[in-house]
Amino acid sequence: MSVYYHDYLHLDRLLDCQHLASAGSPAGVAHDEMLFVIVHQTYELWFKQILWELDDVLARFAGEALDESEIARVIDRLARVVEIQRVLVDQIDVLETMTPMDFLDFRDLLVPASGFQSMQFRLIENRLGVRAEDRVTFGGARYTERLRGGQREQVLASEHAPSLHDRAEAWLERTPFLDAFDFWGAYQRAVKELLAHDRQIVADNPNLTDDERTAQLAAFEQTFRQYEALVDPEAHAALVQEGSRRWSHRAFQAALFISLYRHEPALHQPYRLLALLIDVDEGFTTWRYRHALMTQRMIGRRVGTGGSAGGAYLTRQAERGRAFPDLFALPTFMLPARALDPLPSELAEQLRFHYQSHLDQPGRP
Ligand code: HEM
Repeated sequence: MSVYYHDYLHLDRLLDCQHLASAGSPAGVAHDEMLFVIVHQTYELWFKQILWELDDVLARFAGEALDESEIARVIDRLARVVEIQRVLVDQIDVLETMTPMDFLDFRDLLVPASGFQSMQFRLIENRLGVRAEDRVTFGGARYTERLRGGQREQVLASEHAPSLHDRAEAWLERTPFLDAFDFWGAYQRAVKELLAHDRQIVADNPNLTDDERTAQLAAFEQTFRQYEALVDPEAHAALVQEGSRRWSHRAFQAALFISLYRHEPALHQPYRLLALLIDVDEGFTTWRYRHALMTQRMIGRRVGTGGSAGGAYLTRQAERGRAFPDLFALPTFMLPARALDPLPSELAEQLRFHYQSHLDQPGRP
């Protein structure tokens, strides 16, 4: 029998999954509850697709080496996740056609259920590398406490599985070329010149009060300490300890090296991959802020159906729930191309791709 559209997509089941809580209530069906249900279900379908992509990416990263074609596939998958995230953010506009009053027609029927209990959302967070200690708690309970038995176990297990954060770190640590020349010596000289220049601008700024100048110079010393950490593993370890860094010293160095010399052919794909990790992290953070704003618009200062402080909780979580904070710290250490030493010619040669036709190969007719 030929494939039939409706059967292939199991639409009988899919279209029979919209059961409104208000249908059985004394006040009768709340018109906007259908939108509320369908928007949430659509999110969950997209979450499924994101997990599908992330699992493939993690499987590719799990090997000993990530060759060029693997990197290309990882890039494709992550680029798809980023596009889905745009849809997820845009979808909030659709939900916002519901007014706060329309929401009140059925909101109380939902307590204590909440998006907070989305198992797939938690799996995505953990696959990316959001840690338990990055989570804002409320009611004195771990986020997993609000999940049911089997789902709780699945989410707990995902906390201990290697995340994209961990896999990317291990991949960066394996970056060749890092020890190939005295990059850090040259880099440090260039940075010192740049910082001395910046410091002078602060010191000479006639528009600052003495107090402002003192505060800005103190902030400057803090930045300087972070630069020192680039070449000093112990200073880096101290930053990890205080929570300003997550990646190892070597991984952080590799990410910087790749970013600075991104136009070298062999580093360009790795650079694209790092840029996509930033996009994915930014995509989720954008969604978190957008969802927090929508929540404030919808329920004002009321508490959430799940029992949190509502908008205030969500905004705090948006600030903390980041998977790749190191990548966002990286631009502090960028230098303009003119300040960078050119790579030694032998290394530059290694970083180029050469197409060798079979006619060029020795021994070939
Ligand atoms: C009327 C619309 C919505 C309102 C007022 C709202 C409100 C809230 C509130 C207050 C929370 C915090 C937990 C709580 O106390 O319940 C929350 C969490 C959450 N919501 Fe929504 N939400 C809405 C729509 C959505 C949609 C469409 C999704 C898509 C799946 C969603 C996903 C989530 C997720 C994943 C969390 C957990 C976030 C975290 O812990 O970082 N929400 N929501």
